[in-house]
Amino acid sequence: MKKKKLQFSSGLYTGTGKLTMGEKVTQKLLELLKDLFEDIAIEEMKHAEKIAERLFYLGGTPTTKPTPIIVGGSLEEMIKSNLKAENEAIELYTEIIKLADTEGDSTTRLMFEEIMTNEEEHKHTFTILLK
Ligand SMILES: [Fe+2]
Repeated sequence: MKKKKLQFSSGLYTGTGKLTMGEKVTQKLLELLKDLFEDIAIEEMKHAEKIAERLFYLGGTPTTKPTPIIVGGSLEEMIKSNLKAENEAIELYTEIIKLADTEGDSTTRLMFEEIMTNEEEHKHTFTILLK
């Protein structure tokens, strides 16, 4: 874990053995953002696991094919990409919540309402980062 952080921030190393104050601040911000992205990714994996378990319980077969992964770009592009994914998830989960309610499946409805709360938090986080 420590090694990863060093690799992530190695682009800021001046080679003189000392970082300027600006470089230190930038390095700290990048480390915080890395941790934030990592925490959100872990939450998304937990969502996927819950959804797969519920789908299996309901008699479905969870897919093993991930959607295409968008890689790279600037930090701003990554945040915009994540914000777009959060908006798409919120839209999809809103439809699922309505359908579950129509079908009288309160367990699925409640599960997606809980997941949606996290997605809205993620959306808020990415929205704030773009300001
Ligand atoms: Fe999310």
